[in-house]
Amino acid sequence: MPSFIKALKSQVGRKYVTGITGVFLMLFLIGHLGGNLTIFAGVHTFNNYTHHLENLGPLLYVIELVLAFLFIYHAVLGISIARNRKKARPESYNVYKTKGGPSHQTLASRSMAITGVIILVFLVIHIWQFKFGFGEELARYTHEGVDLPQLRARVIEAFTNPVSAFGYAFVLAMIILHLSHGFWSAFTSLGMKHGETSKKVQAAAYVFAIVLMLGFMFIPLYIFFTGGDGSLISY
Ligand code: HEM
Repeated sequence: MPSFIKALKSQVGRKYVTGITGVFLMLFLIGHLGGNLTIFAGVHTFNNYTHHLENLGPLLYVIELVLAFLFIYHAVLGISIARNRKKARPESYNVYKTKGGPSHQTLASRSMAITGVIILVFLVIHIWQFKFGFGEELARYTHEGVDLPQLRARVIEAFTNPVSAFGYAFVLAMIILHLSHGFWSAFTSLGMKHGETSKKVQAAAYVFAIVLMLGFMFIPLYIFFTGGDGSLISY
C-alpha cells in the first residue's frame, strides 16, 4: 500500500482528514447561515437567492455531491476514530487519567459521536423537509418577470409549528456542543496548538459555535414566537 494512503488510514491521518473536512463543513455553515438570514431581507430576497442557486444548474449538483461526500466521510472517520479510541482505552473517560498532565475531556468531546449522529439524522429530515417539502411540490410565482420558488413561505410555515421550531432549537444546541469541540479539535489536529494557544483556540471555538448557532436558532424561534408575522418577517 502506498505510504501516503497508509498515513491517511492511520489514527493520526484519520484525525487530520476529519479536521480538514470539518473545517470545510464549518465554512459551508457560515455560507448557509448568510443565505438563510436573507429571510429577514424582504419578501423576495430569500426566494431570489434560492433561484440563483437553482440557476447554477449542473454546478449545483457537483456542490451538493461534494457536500454530501464531506458530511459522510467526516462522519465515517469520526465514528471510526471514536471506536478505535474506545478499543484502545475501554475504561470510560470519567475514570481515565493521562500520565502526562490533564487531557482535554469535556462534555462536548465525550459526546462527539452522539451529537454527530443526531446531526446526520437531522440533515436527512432537514433536506427532506425543505428541499423536497416532504414530497409536496414547491409552489412558484412570478416577480418582476422572474419565476421564483416559494421557499420562504415553506420555511415560515414550518417554523410556526412548535415541533419543527423546538426540534430545530434542540438540534442546533447539539450542533453548538459538536462544533465547540470540533473547532478546537480540528485546529489541534492541524497542528495549531501550543500551550497558551490551545486555550485561545478553545475560547474561539466556543465563540464560533455559539454565535453561528444563535444565528441559525434565531430563525425558527423568531418565526415561532411571532406566529410567522413579526415585523422582521412580514415586510
Ligand atoms: C434555522 C436553521 C436552518 C434553516 C432555516 C435552513 C434552511 C435550509 C433550506 C431552505 C434548504 C433548502 C435549500 C434549497 O432547496 O435550495 C436547506 C438545505 C440544506 N441545509 Fe439548511 N437550514 C438550517 C440549518 C441547517 C444546519 C444547522 C445545517 C447543517 C448542520 C444545514 C445543512 C443543510 C444542507 C446540507 C442542505 C442541502 C443543501 C443542498 O442540497 O443544496 N442546515 N437548508
